[in-house]
Amino acid sequence: MAHDFRDFEHLLRLVAIFVVGFALFIVVRAMLVPDDFGVYGHFRAGALDDNRQRPLAHAGAAACSDCHDDVVNSRAGGGHEKVRCEACHGPLAAHADDPSAQAPELPNPGTVCLKCHLPAMAKPATFPQVDPTEHADNEPCDTCHLPHSPRLEEG
Ligand code: HEC
Ligand code: HEC
Ligand code: HEC
Ligand code: HEC
Repeated sequence: MAHDFRDFEHLLRLVAIFVVGFALFIVVRAMLVPDDFGVYGHFRAGALDDNRQRPLAHAGAAACSDCHDDVVNSRAGGGHEKVRCEACHGPLAAHADDPSAQAPELPNPGTVCLKCHLPAMAKPATFPQVDPTEHADNEPCDTCHLPHSPRLEEG
């Protein structure tokens, strides 16, 4: 019976390698994983503060109407009433904080419209889509449409 387990030293060596390997893993992991990892979930809790420190890029819709109520009025009732200003004008938090600090570049009416209105399979059929060549012979969209209130008057 006893001599069945005669040559077991090589197994001990294998076990020793695993034990050392595991210990090494624990040590290296403790060195690399930040202390606040896992406080709230599978991420570093400090990442929330890091993100909070980053400057905001967008001002939000309400900010624009404080100073540009003429534009807000010209959009009322039009097809773009609910499209946020910054969807076309880009992020303008710096401008809204201090209008003299950043003069916004105006969006190019020849290209900005196609970001949304170029036909695509993925868009719902109810969303108005136009092929710029068929629709307007590649003329700039604002030749006929007002960007802030794009529906054409009857007649
Ligand atoms: C604190 C007031 C204020 C806020 C808030 C503000 N603006 Fe302005 N904006 C101005 C002033 C002042 C000018 C420069 C005068 C002008 O040309 O009307 C200006 C200019 C602009 C222009 C350029 C106009 C041109 O003819 O070149 C655009 C576009 C614009 N703002 C968009 C926005 C958008 C979009 C927002 C919201 C994210 C916004 N503004 C928020 C005050 C403001
Ligand atoms: C659908 C895209 C779109 C949206 C949404 C939009 N704009 Fe514009 N806006 C434009 C374009 C394009 C121009 C440039 C027109 C031109 O070059 O003649 C412009 C021009 C302007 C100007 C320059 C003066 C003028 O009236 O032409 C201001 C100021 C302005 N926008 C503010 C706003 C504000 C504030 C909002 C939200 C309340 C807004 N825009 C929403 C596309 C948009
Ligand atoms: C950020 C996306 C976006 C951009 C950019 C945009 N649009 Fe629109 N547009 C919309 C949405 C949303 C509607 C409303 C669709 C609906 O009612 O189902 C709309 C509706 C329209 C309509 C139909 C209006 C109506 O009353 O039926 C026209 C015309 C139009 N847009 C032209 C333009 C032109 C011209 C430009 C460029 C100056 C432009 N759009 C840029 C999102 C956009
Ligand atoms: C030569 C004038 C002209 C130009 C330039 C023009 N359009 Fe139009 N657009 C019209 C007319 C007229 C209508 C309304 C008739 C119709 O429904 O087809 C219209 C309707 C639309 C509609 C609503 C379509 C629907 O199914 O309800 C959208 C969206 C639109 N245009 C986007 C654009 C875009 C984006 C551009 C720039 C690539 C552009 N238009 C350039 C004249 C023009």
